[in-house]
Amino acid sequence: MSATETIAPAAPLLPILVVPDPLLRKHARAVTPADYDEVRALIPSMFATMYAAPGIGLAAPQVGRLLRVIVVDVAPDKVPAPLALINPEVVAESDDKCAREEGCLSLPEQYAEVVRPSWVRVRYQDVDGVKHEVEADGLLATCLQHEIDHLNGVQFVDYLSPLKRNILLRKLAKEVKEQKERRGRR
Ligand code: NI
Repeated sequence: MSATETIAPAAPLLPILVVPDPLLRKHARAVTPADYDEVRALIPSMFATMYAAPGIGLAAPQVGRLLRVIVVDVAPDKVPAPLALINPEVVAESDDKCAREEGCLSLPEQYAEVVRPSWVRVRYQDVDGVKHEVEADGLLATCLQHEIDHLNGVQFVDYLSPLKRNILLRKLAKEVKEQKERRGRR
């Protein structure tokens, strides 16, 4: 997800992969205790990268790590609300759906309305392996579902009609080309 908030903690920034990078289509594997050291180092960098972008959610595959780790901060009332989720899974969702405009740091400058359950319960672990659950509605519900999708190689454009998806992907290719040209001129 992308946003306009900027808060920048000090941790190394990671390059964000952009569609159609094939890593973004891979299934990320579950984090085990053997991964905890790596994940403890990864999470602060994921937050820093997300805030710098700026965005409100980031999944590890977007920075090239095929591990089930996501970070989100939908900053309600502009107060930072960082949440890191390891091995997150949706364990309950509402029948009630809502449509919300989504963007993605891996599809820069592209936005489209996506229909998803308006409420979810997500089970996850923290970096000490302790299990938690979070119930979410509104923007956080959308954001959690969007980021968990990334762990399964799914992007928000997959919910669009083939026509809408193709238009968006063509616009993305043009945007990426223009970004490269802008960088080349600097
Ligand atoms: Ni995304």
